[in-house]
Amino acid sequence: MHNDIKEILLTKQEIDMMVHKIASSVNDDFRGEEVTAVVILKGSIMFAADLVRCLTVNVKLDFMQASSYGSGVESSGVINIKKDLETDVKGKNVLIIEDIVDSGRTLSLLREEIEKRGAKKVAIASLLSKPSRRVVDVKIEYIGTEIPDEFVVGYGLDMDEKYRQLDYIGILKPEVYMS
Ligand code: IMP
Ligand code: MG
Repeated sequence: MHNDIKEILLTKQEIDMMVHKIASSVNDDFRGEEVTAVVILKGSIMFAADLVRCLTVNVKLDFMQASSYGSGVESSGVINIKKDLETDVKGKNVLIIEDIVDSGRTLSLLREEIEKRGAKKVAIASLLSKPSRRVVDVKIEYIGTEIPDEFVVGYGLDMDEKYRQLDYIGILKPEVYMS
């Protein structure tokens, strides 16, 4: 275990089981259809790579990097798109793949944006969710697991771009993010 990690929250095996479970729901829900997977950079790359390999429906991959602006308690906010899709999602089934839902601001704005572009159907898959942190109510079709209000890293998730390469999800030691 990495020295900066206090505790392993989800092992590689546990993550694997969650990914398979989500994939099997997606396969059922989109049977016979094509899905455009919109991978939200950078945190969800591991999850997306594992998830799409379990999909039996036809999948196209595209990438987006975005963050939300504004800290108001309302659902309104502005989305800052750092890298946009290459695909025109009009008329497409879109599966947004995200690592974690925290306040819900980013995903709620992203969902709105993709719907505005005329997608036929939008569904969100997030590996993790911190329900106690939610500020904006956003519909998430597929959730791997809910976690407590702790800052987690690994399996794509970072703190200052570090720890993404860990193959498990862990809780950082407090002294690491306090320093
Ligand atoms: P939201 O708009 O507040 O839901 O922000 C979600 C984004 O915050 C995620 O895509 C992550 O990039 C980041 N984030 C939230 N919680 C954590 C965490 O515990 N570890 C790492 N990144 C996190
Ligand atoms: Mg991040």
